[in-house]
Amino acid sequence: MRESVFITGGTSGLGLALAKLYDQAGFSVAVCGRDLTKLSPLDRENFQCYEVDVTKSEDLIAAVDDFVAKKGRLDIMIASAGRSVGSKSKVPRFDVAREVIAINVFGVINAFEAACKYMLSQKKGQLVAISSVAGFVGLPGASSYSASKAAVTIYCESLMLDLKDQGITTSVICPGFVDTPLTKKNNHSMPFLMSAGKAAVIMKNAIDRKKALTIFPWPMKLIITLLNKMPRCCYRFLMQLKVLNYSR
Ligand SMILES: NC(=O)c1ccc[n+]([C@@H]2O[C@H](COP(=O)([O-])OP(=O)(O)OC[C@H]3O[C@@H](n4cnc5c(N)ncnc54)[C@H](OP(=O)(O)O)[C@@H]3O)[C@@H](O)[C@H]2O)c1
Repeated sequence: MRESVFITGGTSGLGLALAKLYDQAGFSVAVCGRDLTKLSPLDRENFQCYEVDVTKSEDLIAAVDDFVAKKGRLDIMIASAGRSVGSKSKVPRFDVAREVIAINVFGVINAFEAACKYMLSQKKGQLVAISSVAGFVGLPGASSYSASKAAVTIYCESLMLDLKDQGITTSVICPGFVDTPLTKKNNHSMPFLMSAGKAAVIMKNAIDRKKALTIFPWPMKLIITLLNKMPRCCYRFLMQLKVLNYSR
């Protein structure tokens, strides 16, 4: 029986790039998203595909149940489904904030719940969430996105401690800017932007090594660590300087 991986948000970007890598590595691969027409006919043939909104926990549980029934096991759950705030703005958009939190935070919780149904009884498995460097500081113009990713990173840190003794490893991956449909909408500069293919290789390598926390690329890791560790008044001062060009 082949190892298996279920990837939420596998119809595009990082989730899709990871799905292709796992398929090449011989895994049974399931992907879910709200719009399966984004997938090529070949991808639809290679993957088990589920048209599921991750905010609907019962639908996600049903999809994972179906996948496990067909493939007989679940080794890795990767929660990649997410959305950004789109163009950064100084005007709060509370409707967008609710949606960002629902998809980015509850989507991860729902994915992990669906996987834990199997992983807790088999006392084996890997939970992986795709968070972001944006979760280490409150970025201007992206309040709900930063908040959602901070929640995901800390949620995973706790789960890593709670589930270790039960044979389940939890990993959180925090990419910098990656060239995907999500970042195409950005109206600001994106330092150290990398391709989705290259990012997926780094991410799969981290998952293979069961790394608890991965932040990449390294120049972005350095910058975000400095911003995160500095006194908050210094951070706020820096962010208000136009030279950093974070918000327009
Ligand atoms: N790209 C970056 O620079 C970057 C950096 C750091 C972190 N991330 C994170 O990486 C993850 C993947 O982002 P990406 O760049 O690959 O973006 P993307 O290309 O826009 O892909 C997002 C995926 O999430 C799915 N999705 C969105 N809402 C969903 C919902 N309610 N239910 C089910 N699926 C949903 C989309 O599928 P459907 O449209 O078919 O629903 C799509 O497959 C996100 O969590 C993002 O925050 C990205």
